[in-house]
Amino acid sequence: MMGTRPGTIIRTLIFASWAILTSGTEQHLHSAELSYHFQEPDLDTRMEKRDTDTFLPADTPDDSSPEKIQPESDASDLPTCLLCVCLTGSVYCEEVDPDMTSVPALPKETAYLYARYNKIKKITAKDFGEIVTLKRIDLTGNLISEIEDGAFMKLTLLEELSLAENRLVKLPMLPSNLMSFNANHNRLKTKGVKANAFKKLTNLRNLYLAHNELEAVPIIPESVRMFHIQNNNISVVTADTFCKSNNTYYIRPNINEIRMDGNPVILAKDPNIFICLQMLPVGRYQ
Ligand SMILES: *[C@@H]1O[C@H](CO)[C@@H](O)[C@H](O)[C@H]1NC(C)=O
Ligand SMILES: *[C@@H]1O[C@H](CO)[C@@H](O)[C@H](O)[C@H]1NC(C)=O
Repeated sequence: MMGTRPGTIIRTLIFASWAILTSGTEQHLHSAELSYHFQEPDLDTRMEKRDTDTFLPADTPDDSSPEKIQPESDASDLPTCLLCVCLTGSVYCEEVDPDMTSVPALPKETAYLYARYNKIKKITAKDFGEIVTLKRIDLTGNLISEIEDGAFMKLTLLEELSLAENRLVKLPMLPSNLMSFNANHNRLKTKGVKANAFKKLTNLRNLYLAHNELEAVPIIPESVRMFHIQNNNISVVTADTFCKSNNTYYIRPNINEIRMDGNPVILAKDPNIFICLQMLPVGRYQ
């Protein structure tokens, strides 16, 4: 699926920009864009020295220019926008080669970070500390087993966070404006997910906790529309899990999908479990 590596895209972009440069038009504009995107201060001067008739693509050996771009060294030595693809406000670092084992330094004002299918192991409090413009972070398919306290707490604009397909046993504190949170396919244990972990997230719409090791359902805010907790180890659900045991008139607003299949709990044991819901949870009834 990911046939095109970021390196190839970057080389293509450089090639295309050189083609424009050699045509002699808008030279200043394109030089400025290149040095901004690729953080390569020498690039303009080297290009201006080039003879327009002997144009060479970035990875062709060229004796007249000893320094060349060398993307095949260690990931942490390279500028983020050389390793990843940066477009205004978005940073795409998917399946980066060489291996990316930590969150790269992000350009100021990054709003969207896609860093799926890398080898990131840990999220530190510094990784996102200054990038308060972030709205979406997708870290699906890494090796994350540790997240430092407060790593996401300054991100007051963050609406979507995916930590799916990692190795988490406990959840970090989550910022209050989150609308979608995905921690499917981790190793979450009950003691790592506090009952009130999501209680204050009053904008939360989608909550995905499927394929973990949970034995209890946390408190689900009323704003939630879709809740997935299938394939865990939940054996008990009470009349207070989704509803209010002391108020038989209560109807829970918003929720339109609950997945509880693949858990040992038998939902038909107590009809009060879903008396306030407008549809039945998906799960075992006998
Ligand atoms: C599932 O939960 C039960 C307690 O309800 C516990 O005894 C059992 O070890 C758990 N199984 C796994 C695989 O964690
Ligand atoms: C129902 O119980 C909750 C606490 O669980 C309480 O805050 C609320 O006031 C009670 N409502 C009624 C109608 O008794």
